[in-house]
Amino acid sequence: MVDPLSPPLPYQLRPLQLADIDAVLAIEAQSFPSAARASLYRHELSENPLAFYQALVLGDTNTLIGYAGFWMMADEAHISIIAVDPAWRGKRLGELLLLNMLWLACGQQALLATLEVRRSNKVAQKLYEKYQFEYVGERRRYYRDTGEDALLMTVLFDSGSYCQRLDQYRIDLFSCLLGAR
Ligand SMILES: CC(C)(COP(=O)(O)OP(=O)(O)OC[C@H]1O[C@@H](n2cnc3c(N)ncnc32)[C@H](O)[C@@H]1OP(=O)(O)O)[C@@H](O)C(=O)NCCC(=O)NCCS
Repeated sequence: MVDPLSPPLPYQLRPLQLADIDAVLAIEAQSFPSAARASLYRHELSENPLAFYQALVLGDTNTLIGYAGFWMMADEAHISIIAVDPAWRGKRLGELLLLNMLWLACGQQALLATLEVRRSNKVAQKLYEKYQFEYVGERRRYYRDTGEDALLMTVLFDSGSYCQRLDQYRIDLFSCLLGAR
């Protein structure tokens, strides 16, 4: 397992833990039309061997300000969630979480990353496009809470050349995070 990225302080990335679940649900409630239940995260964190969940915390206080996860299924990293506390959005932290997912997926020898995104979620789509995800399909009425369609997005790792390019994304992002302190 490759280590998660080490962003500039005060930000820190580490595995999501059971003790984080209350904070995760608080962010979920402010981020999605219907929030997941605690039991789903308990299952993901303790019983799903394919799951890689990471927390973004403020290093000095261990306060959770974002989280993300993917499932490693054969050679595909399927990103299941990314969310940032609304008070911390627009500071490149969603990007940090996505980059960290892709970084860890490269460490798992993934050949591609996939995800679903709500058709109306233009902010998230812009983020994924920035990391070269492309639209490859849609699932009609995929989201049971609102009946909204999902768009399927994929990026191919191209025998590792995409993974090498992630290092340039990392350098640019970290210098931006350093400059913003
Ligand atoms: C999607 C989400 C994770 C983005 O996090 P964020 O920290 O606000 O975004 P960042 O500051 O890292 O921005 C990264 C990129 O996202 C896109 N983006 C962010 N905010 C945007 C906005 N208001 N409008 C358009 N694009 C935006 C841009 O491409 C941006 O890159 P740029 O600054 O070079 O233009 C955050 O909005 C969120 O938690 N939303 C609710 C949960 C959710 O929808 N998750 C995705 C489920 S598929």
